[in-house]
Amino acid sequence: NNVLDGLYRPKNVAVIGASSTPGKIGYTVVENLIQGGFEGKIYPVNPKADEILGLKVYPTIADLPAGVDAAVITVPAKLVPQAVEDCGKHGVKGLIVITSGFSETGQHELEHEIVEIARRYNTRILGPNIVGYLSNTEKLNASFAPFLPLVGKAALISQSGALLIAMDASTYTRRVGFDKLISIGNMSDVDFADTIEWLNDDPATACISLYIEGFKDGRRFMEVSRKSKKPIIALKSGVSAHGAAAAASHTGSLAGAAKVYGAAFQQAGVLQAGDLDNLFDLTLALSLQPPMKGDNLLIITNGGGVGVLATDAAERYGLPLKFAPADVQAELKKHMPEFGSAKNPVDLTGMAGNEWYMDSVRYALPHEWVDGLVVLYCETAMTDPVEIAKGIKQAIDESGCTTKPVTVSFVGGEKSAEAMRWLVENGVPAFGAPDVAVNTMAALREYARMREMVADNSQVE
Ligand code: ACO
Repeated sequence: NNVLDGLYRPKNVAVIGASSTPGKIGYTVVENLIQGGFEGKIYPVNPKADEILGLKVYPTIADLPAGVDAAVITVPAKLVPQAVEDCGKHGVKGLIVITSGFSETGQHELEHEIVEIARRYNTRILGPNIVGYLSNTEKLNASFAPFLPLVGKAALISQSGALLIAMDASTYTRRVGFDKLISIGNMSDVDFADTIEWLNDDPATACISLYIEGFKDGRRFMEVSRKSKKPIIALKSGVSAHGAAAAASHTGSLAGAAKVYGAAFQQAGVLQAGDLDNLFDLTLALSLQPPMKGDNLLIITNGGGVGVLATDAAERYGLPLKFAPADVQAELKKHMPEFGSAKNPVDLTGMAGNEWYMDSVRYALPHEWVDGLVVLYCETAMTDPVEIAKGIKQAIDESGCTTKPVTVSFVGGEKSAEAMRWLVENGVPAFGAPDVAVNTMAALREYARMREMVADNSQVE
């Protein structure tokens, strides 16, 4: 039984500072807990109200039933130490402290004080200065972000609350699913490392994505990341001089030079995302596909142009294409017209229909030479993108190969977008640009390389 279970997998939740006034954070949190569908008990605490949104209100923390796992705190900063004390006394295991006005505004003493109190009772603190915590598995929206994210297998830990709310909304437009969104704020107690450790034992999490401004304990982050059994993707901000100053006033943490972080992430086996788009793209690929264990990438396409674009991208991202061996070329030649090319990229030509795609994927994926497959499709007048998508997925399944990654790109219009949505819902990462299908495959390769290096280094130690 992990010490953070009470916080991250609570059976019931109290809201300290619940309010009957719509628009207040203490009201929104109660409303979100109800609307998220949380199946455990919700206990609003407020000295004046009898009932909030149909729930019985408890006047003080001491009045709560025994065995409260987590409490969301939404009272003003000056009242937080007392609330932490009372929760500690009552045996609450985890506190989600939404309140601002701590180290980020120079109130270091106050932040120190609440951590000291919590330690005395073995109570853990997430925050302060956070949006809250959201989990699809738990049907728990213990936050003031309006809804749970699109269902998926990734977890996001974000040091920025506003960014977390924005990313929550864009999970639906980008079709990148998350199981958990964790706003970590000032990290007075629970930090990236603690949470990564916990997520490593969480069956609903396949991949861990981070928005980082700075660390309190970078060394422990590296140790925990090196041991992580699940891929970690980090978007690090505040690497410019001015950005570092902005981060300091935002969450009160120290930021540092780009190069130092780049090297540290590499040593820790953490993939670095270049920007927000890249964070979403890598999250999708890494949460759905296995790592690419060798350097042989095969590209299958129906369009020469996108094939060449992808080939350029492969070199740019450190995964240069090689010609496929003779037996692979000979077999693939059977599933394309005379003027097609089986070399790599494999160009099935614009004449390619479902059958040729399926035959090629079914044959190539399990072939011992192939370590990863990028399948490209240009929308044509003769083919239905959704049919092609379903064919690709069927061929992957029929190949019986589950240990090699596949990424896909469909270039086209609304039908292609629909086809890609279908693919993603069925576990195959699909992107609008061939470049991105290759970039994410390169990340799956990089992840495997880094894990090998990390494993080698730990043997030496
Ligand atoms: N126990 C329980 N409830 C109490 C207690 C107590 N001891 N004392 C007061 N309350 C009640 C209040 O009566 C009030 O309820 P009411 O509306 O019924 O009167 C409720 O707790 C809230 O207290 P208020 O004084 O009304 O506080 P308010 O809601 O104005 O502000 C808040 C509290 C939201 C925590 C504010 O101090 C704050 O920190 N806001 C910023 C939060 C934030 O943005 N965090 C995330 C940053 S990340 C990002 O950028 C998105």
